[in-house]
Amino acid sequence: MDEPPANPVHLPASRFLAERLGDFGPRVGLVLGSGLGFFADERIDAVSTVPYADIPDFPRSTVEGHAGQWVAGRVAGQPVLCMQGRFHFYEGYGMDQLALPVRIMRELGVEILILTNAAGGVREGMRPGDFMLLSDHINFIGANPLRGPNADAFGTRFPDMSVPYDTELRARARQAAADLAIPLAEGVYLAVSGPSFETPAEIRAFRTLGADAVGMSTVPECIVARHCGMRVCAVSCITNLASGLTGEALTHEEVAETADRVRRPFANLIEGLLTRLPPP
Ligand code: HPA
Repeated sequence: MDEPPANPVHLPASRFLAERLGDFGPRVGLVLGSGLGFFADERIDAVSTVPYADIPDFPRSTVEGHAGQWVAGRVAGQPVLCMQGRFHFYEGYGMDQLALPVRIMRELGVEILILTNAAGGVREGMRPGDFMLLSDHINFIGANPLRGPNADAFGTRFPDMSVPYDTELRARARQAAADLAIPLAEGVYLAVSGPSFETPAEIRAFRTLGADAVGMSTVPECIVARHCGMRVCAVSCITNLASGLTGEALTHEEVAETADRVRRPFANLIEGLLTRLPPP
């Protein structure tokens, strides 16, 4: 862990949220992906819930299946600050707006960021309902959230990305999966901007490039988190086989249905990881 920013809680939205959280000091940030928001309802012992709409100058969730609120509370004793619903590039937000929630979490003391997402399976053998721990990613969004003047209070101009997903946290996630007998694949997540799903030719190209799963999120948040020295761990729920692999059309409904079908093992896996985090 790097030292926290020299001037913590300087973003207006951080100050607002800090006031609402009172003396609750989150150590872990959790971002729940499409169809995965149930985790907050089912597993977080909430002390405070703050709708995004309440926060001055804060974006709103526009996607169905994203509640659009912060949930602060404990899971397995860990103080967690959770985004129940995230922001995506395809919604039209600027990369700076995607960076904001991660920087808010950092300002509030979050050291470990757990990212979840729904993704299409690209690697042969992936099945809808599988889980994949991210070992690495490919940014195919075509933009970087750190573009523009560097936010010196958070990190350096040219941050290292040689270990985007923390080695120890990945080992802990693997251990949680093994203890709970939940199969957990591991692989490379390729992020596209969306909102259209990919073409079959794109998926063939992505496979050649080394992608194991494809989705429309996570990578901007990971980059911003690494910039400000957070440790990151990310898990994909493979909700469908990627375009061209089944002969069927892709729909958001299929994504939501699969995420709902595996809600129990998914929640167990994330809770299992939270239970096994390294001590501060
Ligand atoms: N492609 C992109 N994003 C996704 C997919 C997909 O197949 N499934 C869930 N999110």
